[in-house]
Amino acid sequence: MSMMSIRAATPRDREAIRLVEEHAFGQQAEAGLVDALVTGGDAVVELVVEEDGQVVGHILFSRLYVQNGGKRFAAVALAPLAVEPSFHGTGIGGALIREAHVRLKEAGETLAVVLGDPTYYGRFGYTHDRAAKFDSEYQGEALQALAWGDAPETGRLVYASAFTALAA
Ligand SMILES: CC(C)(COP(=O)(O)OP(=O)(O)OC[C@H]1O[C@@H](n2cnc3c(N)ncnc32)[C@H](O)[C@@H]1OP(=O)(O)O)[C@@H](O)C(=O)NCCC(=O)NCCS
Repeated sequence: MSMMSIRAATPRDREAIRLVEEHAFGQQAEAGLVDALVTGGDAVVELVVEEDGQVVGHILFSRLYVQNGGKRFAAVALAPLAVEPSFHGTGIGGALIREAHVRLKEAGETLAVVLGDPTYYGRFGYTHDRAAKFDSEYQGEALQALAWGDAPETGRLVYASAFTALAA
């Protein structure tokens, strides 16, 4: 019987995480983004899924600020989420998102933002409506947010610097 477990990523997982990201996306950009976010100290919650001792899924939430004039509100951005292709459709992605949400709430986080398919992320409570008034170069239907408590609805989304490097 297979054994799936979710746990916080550790420094020893870096190579396995890189491989899962590369296999899931079929390119190296996301794996590079993960390394840059972690190295930059911007990771807030980072989890892996192990199946029989092998890392087959990975999720990272990084620090994102909502800037309103002189005020800066700390939120998180979900990216990237990756599951080893041979394990797609077995609930690993969903399990990672739900567990990360529990940990984020416990840590006092109140707002998460994601850029992705609304059909997928809508399952976990993300909506474009909640993100529609943010000022962002990523503004559009794919930009979604989920709030668990008091959090701004307007303001400029300021991502960790690794994202700027990715877009360059
Ligand atoms: C997206 C991803 C993480 C989902 O992981 P997963 O473990 O297969 O997801 P789950 O098993 O929890 O959910 C699977 C369901 O989501 C659906 N789904 C998967 N990717 C989807 C997408 N991009 N858009 C809409 N639905 C999607 C599947 O069709 C499946 O639906 P079903 O339950 O009705 O059969 C995985 O497909 C992946 O690594 N993809 C490549 C990387 C990627 O695109 N990451 C997300 C970037 S925003």
